[in-house]
Amino acid sequence: MSRRILIAGNWKMNKTSAEGATLVGEVLAGLPSGNLPEILVFPPYLTIPAVVAAAKGSAIEVGAENVHWAESGAFTGEVSTAMLKDAGVTHALVGHSERRQYFGETDETVNKRAAAAISAGLVAVICVGETLAEREAGETASVIDRQTRKALEGISDTSRVVIAYEPVWAIGTGKTATPDMAQEVHAQIRAILKDLYGDAADSIRILYGGSMKPANAPELLAKPDINGGLIGGASLKAPDFLALVKAGAEA
Ligand code: PGA
Repeated sequence: MSRRILIAGNWKMNKTSAEGATLVGEVLAGLPSGNLPEILVFPPYLTIPAVVAAAKGSAIEVGAENVHWAESGAFTGEVSTAMLKDAGVTHALVGHSERRQYFGETDETVNKRAAAAISAGLVAVICVGETLAEREAGETASVIDRQTRKALEGISDTSRVVIAYEPVWAIGTGKTATPDMAQEVHAQIRAILKDLYGDAADSIRILYGGSMKPANAPELLAKPDINGGLIGGASLKAPDFLALVKAGAEA
């Protein structure tokens, strides 16, 4: 199975342009030689140009933390695929639980954003995951099924699809799903992808996110359906992010 590991840093609302460029510079200076995983960072919109400039010509790709589905128009506060591509962005994060929790993102808007990103030629990194209440109520599988199927409705180009499983209760809390717990959900997502796309499902990467750190990454990345990480807190410090890149290279 050749699924290249993807190590992605979600910076959330952190780092100015200068700080972001510095972080990229530090990561580039520390990259190991030899095989690397695919490396991606998601800085805040406003700092994208500085981060793209710092990463130019390097192994680091730059994504946006969200994207709107319309080409242009009266959508105050939103950013289009054309604007992102113009700025040198190659990926868009869609449906992060913080967007769902605090900004009214729904399964339907996640689908619209993902579909627009993919048809514009961006890779959509689509986040799914259950809350603590949903897990405790035994609803994890049904939540994952609903979120995944709805997000992918009408999308046929699987070469630009990445799924990130992020249990909401593990994000920023220091609580990580055990590798077995995570693998169980990743296997369920793989089965949904097979149902939707047949053999093409085998090449879709499924990332784990939620307090992934250098200490727990090797065990998580050793699982067959965990094909990388979406990392928040630990992506903000070069030594930690570099350790995760190294874990990705060795997985
Ligand atoms: P965390 O965030 O690594 O800080 O838990 C992950 C995410 O929200 O993508």
